Amino acid sequence: MLTSNEIKKKLGEYAAGLIGSDMLIGLGTGSTVYWLIQELGKRVGEGLHITIVPTSTQTKVLASELGMQVAELNDVDSIAFTIDGADEADPQFQLIKGGGGALLREKMVAAASQELIIIVDESKMVENLGKFPLPVEVIPFGWNHVRRRIKQLGCEEIILRQKEGKTFISDQGNYILDCHFQIIAEAAKLNEELNLIPGVVETGLFIDMATAIITGYEDGRIEVKRK
Ligand code: 5RP
Repeated sequence: MLTSNEIKKKLGEYAAGLIGSDMLIGLGTGSTVYWLIQELGKRVGEGLHITIVPTSTQTKVLASELGMQVAELNDVDSIAFTIDGADEADPQFQLIKGGGGALLREKMVAAASQELIIIVDESKMVENLGKFPLPVEVIPFGWNHVRRRIKQLGCEEIILRQKEGKTFISDQGNYILDCHFQIIAEAAKLNEELNLIPGVVETGLFIDMATAIITGYEDGRIEVKRK
């Protein structure tokens, strides 16, 4: 049986095989995509030429260290596809993302891509979204009022994200509220309601964005599902 990290490595290696020379692709963020970047770095060392649009500073730094050409989202027209991880994915391909705090750029890069390919280990596949706390990116000004408004939408526990004893700051200079909904019955509706609250920048609900989900299993199987 593979460990969680071994599944992620296998997924990263598999996903690297989807990328051909001279392609422009979006690169996600997180510990699964980390392995994709490592494998791509190896292939770039062997002569593969690709340009990537990163979804975070973390991905940008790692990809450039490994020799990939990096483009800014503003400087490209359309991206063939983005490969990214997720925190939860349901059978309708709706996602919770943002566990790593990169949800805003991840959503913008995904929206500029013709396809969003998600790589997840089997533990991320769920019947209902919501067990994983939903990350909501908010501006620092008046964030406590935003928290109250989210509570009124039925979320009992909302935590201002911390990292190493300090308030976590996103690449965009914002805060993240981790919202413990437990079960999200109507993800599209909740996404709209959250986005209407003044001070909310973006939510980690990725609705109708994923076009393929590649799942890695403990027994070593890899399953590809397309929408
Ligand atoms: C970062 C994300 C990641 O894709 C998500 O948190 C999954 O990460 P990992 O592959 O480390 O489990 O949305 O903002």
